[in-house]
Order: sequence, then C-alpha cells, then structure tokens
Amino acid sequence: TVLIIDFGSQVTQLIARRVREAGVYSEIVPFQSAAEGFERLQPKAVILSGGPASTTDIGSPRAPQIVFDSGVPVLGICYGQQVMAEQLGGKVEGGHHREFGRAYMQVDASSPLFDGVWSTGERHQVWMSHGDRVTKLPDGFEVIGSSQNAPLAATADEARKYYAVQFHPEVVHTPDGAKLLSNFVHKIAGLKGDWTMAAYKDQAIAAIREQVGDGRVLCALSGGVDSSVAALLIHEAIGDRLTCVLVDHGLMRMNEAAEVVAMFREHYNLHLVHVDAADTFIGALEGEADPEKKRKTIGRLFIEVFEEEARKLGGADFLAQGTLYPDVIESVSFTGGPSVTIKSHHNVGGLPERMNMQLVEPLRELFKDEVRELGKELGLPDHFIGRHPFPGPGLAIRCPGGVTREKIRILQEADAIYLDEIRKAGLYDAIWQAFAVLLPVQTVGVMGDGRTYEFVCALRAVTSVDGMTADFYHYDMSFLGNTATRIINEVRGINRVVYDVTSKPPGTIEWE
Ligand code: XMP
Repeated sequence: TVLIIDFGSQVTQLIARRVREAGVYSEIVPFQSAAEGFERLQPKAVILSGGPASTTDIGSPRAPQIVFDSGVPVLGICYGQQVMAEQLGGKVEGGHHREFGRAYMQVDASSPLFDGVWSTGERHQVWMSHGDRVTKLPDGFEVIGSSQNAPLAATADEARKYYAVQFHPEVVHTPDGAKLLSNFVHKIAGLKGDWTMAAYKDQAIAAIREQVGDGRVLCALSGGVDSSVAALLIHEAIGDRLTCVLVDHGLMRMNEAAEVVAMFREHYNLHLVHVDAADTFIGALEGEADPEKKRKTIGRLFIEVFEEEARKLGGADFLAQGTLYPDVIESVSFTGGPSVTIKSHHNVGGLPERMNMQLVEPLRELFKDEVRELGKELGLPDHFIGRHPFPGPGLAIRCPGGVTREKIRILQEADAIYLDEIRKAGLYDAIWQAFAVLLPVQTVGVMGDGRTYEFVCALRAVTSVDGMTADFYHYDMSFLGNTATRIINEVRGINRVVYDVTSKPPGTIEWE
C-alpha cells in the first residue's frame, strides 16, 4: 500500500489514480488523520500531496513524525516537498518567484526517479503551481533537477529514499509525470504492480459493508453507467438490503427503460422498483416551452416521485449515488465562484438533505474510464458500458417547445434509426454523443403524389473529451443522406432532416 497524505490539493485524487495505473494500491488520508492512517495501513511508501497552505504560516499542516521515523520511502509534491524540507531541517521562504503553469526541468538522470524516463542535458516539460520555495535543503539532500525559477525543483536523499519535487507529476501537463510516479512506487519503493480493478472492486465492497453495517440502502437507478455500476457494487456488498428505484419519466430512448429493468432484474437479480411516471412528467411538461422551467419541473417531479416511492418502501438509512471524482472537484471548485447557470443540471443533489439519509458514494474516487473498467469487472456488457452520455431530463430537452406523448414517440423512433445507422457504419465509438432533436416547426414536403406538412428533425453528433467543449462530427455526406432518407421513410411525422454544425462553444451539446 501507498499512503497518500492529502494537504488539500485539487489534484490529490490524480496522484491516487496514477498509482493505481502503476498497479499499486493506494489510499488517500487527510493530513489531520494521517497518523492513524499510517498505523492502520502500514504503508510501504508515502506520498505527500500539494495543498493551498504555506509552510511559513503558523499552524500550517505537517506530516506526522511516524512517516519519517518509519524509514519508508517518501515523495513530497509541491506543498509536500516544502513540508519535507521544514520537517527534516531545511528552510522554506515565501515566494518572490511565483511560478504557475508550464516550466522546463534539467535533471541529473542518474537518480532512480528519472530512470528510463528523462535524460541529462535535455529539457523536460513539467507543470508548476507554487508561491513558496525551498531555500535550504535538509542534511543528506542533493539537487537532482532544477527549473529556471526553482533551482531546487527536484531534490533527493537517495540513501533514505526521500524525494521532493516542486512540480506536479500527477497532472497531464507534466507529460512524463505518470512514469516518474511509477518509478517511485516500483523502482524506489520496490512495490509490485500486481494490483487490479478486480482488487479495487473487493476493497470497495468491503468499504460499503463497513459503512452500511446492517442498514438499508436506496438507489436511484437512471440506467446510466455511473448509477448502474454503483448499484451493482452495492448489490454485491449487501444483496437484498439494496433497493433500486427507476423513476421512468417516459423520456428515455426507445425501449431503454424496459431493457435496463430486464437486465437488472433477470441478469443480476436486483431488487428494482420500476415506477412508470410518464403521465405525471409528460402531463406537467405539456405546453411548457421554457427550457429552464422544463428542467426545473423534471427535477422537482423526480424528487417527489422518488420520495413517494421511498415512503412506500418504508424508508432506508442510506441513499446511494454514482458521484464520480470530477463531480466532486467541480462542485468544490465552483463553490461561491461567480459562475453563471447555463443550464440547471438534473441530478439527485437535493435528496439526501431532504430525506435525512446518509450518502453512499462508492465511485467518489474514480474517473469515468475507471468506472467503465469497474463495470466490466462487475460483468456489465460492453455495449452497455460504452453508451453515449444521456442527460437526466432525457428527451424533453431534445424537444424544443412543448412536449407531448406523440412528439416523444416521433423523436424516439428517429433517434433509434439514427443510432442504428451510426452503429452499422462503425462510427459509434468515434462519436462522443449523437442524438436526434425534434423541432417545433412543420414544413411542406411532397411524398408520392401528395403534399406533406410535418416536423423537422435535426441530427446532432459531437466529438469531445469531457463534454465541456465539443466539435460537431464531420460525417460523410452520403451517411447523412442515407440516414435522412430512412428517417423520413420510416417515421410518421417527420418530412425533413437537417444536420447541426455548431461546436461548443458557442452552442451547447444539447439544444436546451
Ligand atoms: P451541454 O448541453 O451543457 O451538455 O453542452 C454537456 C453534457 O451534459 C449532458 N447534460 C446533462 N447530464 N443532467 C445530466 O446528467 C442534465 O441535466 C444534463 N444536461 C446536459 C449532455 O447530454 C452532455 O453530455
């Protein structure tokens, strides 16, 4: 085990992720309880994270002395580097040389930290973010690398296996950072890289059992990957003490709710309540054209229906959520910030406070691709795991203008054909998200010898890494032509198809 002591950096989880990628188990422990964490885990190596404090401030956090008394290898990153310097007899000074962003290092490649990664005499890109810097090294330490503004950017006491770096090896802007962390855990700490997602699964299950005890858990299953993986994990941990509720707003893709229900009930034998609330949702949305009001209505109804169901089930002690690590950082870093609401996102956010339940969030440490891997480990089929993202408010926000049952039916059919064509063309995985939108305009057409007056369907497809920015997908025109023909021929109610060539920004991915 590697113990990661968290001093509050925004990117501490990335350290854990890199260590996991190197096939080594790690646990993050906040600095306040690091001494107990050390006792409990008996780690073979320790990494000290970055953090917002300054070691020059009175009362700023330190690592527990046991870390240095135990003789295990230690890597200090940024604030962690300064903590090491202070605690081992060096000196840190407040920043006259603040350094943020890209910097270039020259290193002494004979250090095992750089072994096989960096060479002497070349410049290597790293990411810096600090105000303070170490000005006097503790005894036994030597410089193994420097940048223009940080002459002591990488130092080490090779005999004691202490390493301290000013830059952040865990972020992608330090392109070789993952390899350096791998060197630390493998070559320096001598740990084997045999830890896998299967082991993570077992640990996560044990942690759920410990948290939940003999309590009962409710889970709002949306059919998306995150809530599905969370539900399966909890199911493996506590079996029938988990009840999943699928609030079916009637706004999912064609047949999706039924398929999800069948899979979880039959294949996984999970206790799943399928609430058909389509009338409630669609009834409330009918005639409402304002996108924000639609989103708010769906959010409110979702909570009402879920609460009602929970009451019928006699309540529970815990509420499960498929929160991922990026959700955690986003909600932290945006707190109090001046960001504007572009769209009110729909999730189960307000539920736990209202219902007086504790949260179980078994995916809180993971990134999306790790959740997919964990899903595979739990036996979820590939086509399920690899599905495009789907918004909580569902097809309602792909139906500008008022929603009706008929419009949802038309949209579901067009969307199913579109996705079918994408799969057949082998493009599904190259596209980040693709869907049809039903416009509230009718146009004139001619089919056979007759006049038609029907709706317009817009097709959307984007590439993206995280949904924050996106480019429209550059299809071959013949693909679009064939798909349009199929939709117009097969879907009653659509007589014209257009393609959306807007990127994000300035557009958003969804139309509302
Ligand atoms: P936008 O439209 O803001 O969408 O560019 C970015 C990504 O977020 C998805 N999306 C949502 N997901 N609840 C969700 O869970 C929502 O309310 C919601 N609105 C948009 C959207 O599908 C895209 O992947």
